[in-house]
Amino acid sequence: MSAPQGDADRAALEHALGTLPASTEAIRAIEDARQVPTYAKLPIALVRGRGSYVWDADGKRYLDLYGGHAVALTGHCHPRVVEAIRAQAGRLLFFSNVVYNDVRAAAVEALAELAPAGLRSAFLCNSGAEANETALKLARKHTGRMRVVSMQEGFHGRTLGALGATGIRGYRDPAYPIPTAHTYVPYGDIEALGAALGDDVAAVILEPIPSMGGIQVAEPEYFQALRRLCDEHGTLLLFDEVQTGFGRTGTMWFGEHVDVRPDLITGAKGIASGFPAGVCFVREDLAAQVQPGEQGTTFGGGPLASAAIAATARCLLDEGLPANAARVGAVLAEALAPHPAVTAVRGRGLLFGFDLDRPAKPVVRALVDEGVLCGGAGGNPHQIRLLPPLTLTEDEAREWLPALDRALEAAAR
Ligand SMILES: Cc1ncc(COP(=O)(O)O)c(C=O)c1O
Repeated sequence: MSAPQGDADRAALEHALGTLPASTEAIRAIEDARQVPTYAKLPIALVRGRGSYVWDADGKRYLDLYGGHAVALTGHCHPRVVEAIRAQAGRLLFFSNVVYNDVRAAAVEALAELAPAGLRSAFLCNSGAEANETALKLARKHTGRMRVVSMQEGFHGRTLGALGATGIRGYRDPAYPIPTAHTYVPYGDIEALGAALGDDVAAVILEPIPSMGGIQVAEPEYFQALRRLCDEHGTLLLFDEVQTGFGRTGTMWFGEHVDVRPDLITGAKGIASGFPAGVCFVREDLAAQVQPGEQGTTFGGGPLASAAIAATARCLLDEGLPANAARVGAVLAEALAPHPAVTAVRGRGLLFGFDLDRPAKPVVRALVDEGVLCGGAGGNPHQIRLLPPLTLTEDEAREWLPALDRALEAAAR
């Protein structure tokens, strides 16, 4: 695939902003000097994207199996999403939820079409952490209880409330003490969950497939028992589908795989194909009890975000992207499972992990040099995580396998 037609856009940007730094070196120097150094960045500067590919400032092309951090759900710069954002940008950049708006109406209508029956009421916000904060706050208010049970392997965001639910200690510890009542249990362990639950628990929150903590998938019986236990205790069940949602695992929502419907679902990442947005889907009878003023956000459901959400939803439905994720995920599994350096393949659809017989980090780094972007998993140092666009083709899923072999060799040197 040739580089996308980005020159006219770059010229327009320079007209508006002044000259942009042009080389990787120049871009890195400025960001390193001027950003608070919270991120360990790859040494590349990406400036364009189209479909499954991105290009750096020096014109090198990369196959993006990391999906811009699980965000480029419809592929980079899907023309329909770009058109919606461009058109809305020229019409009305912003007005808050204090007024109604036609594009917001289109977005919530589209989300209702995607959402599971019974959860077709959405609170629009700006990020995954905010969606989880909203869900946990609502669960506490509705149940009148304080404690939350979550998974040791779970990641739910960086704000204090979401961090409180995050089981992975590496993320949580720097913020101690966290002012929330949390109990952490191992993912997939129904006995531990049963022991942790009590009539003081407002909610159980979990990623149905932990991702940052290392991809693994519990058995359907686990989820069914989880639902039953929550019902027995009057505890709300919250699926954090920030990564698993919107078709990534091969179904629109994870619960379809295991025949379980949670009370709350949070989403973000690819919901707007890269425009910042999040959502908290709320069981409709709970939503009916929420009062004006109970929750709010200035930017949630703004016109630009709404245009991007509605366009993304249309792409997911019209292009059958969840089914493509299932199909291409199976191709990846078939290609990688027999590889001599691979000890396990994990996940569902295009939330895909494979474990190596060696540490993954040097291999992930060598893959960058090979023009392939993928991720590691904090909770499993041997795992490579793939979170590509749901538009990934079967050919694209296979084309990088020789690069993996070269990367394995380079990392071993
Ligand atoms: C499962 C999960 N939940 C929540 C979040 C937080 O989302 P955000 O970074 O948009 O706040 C993330 C981010 O990686 C995530 O993977």
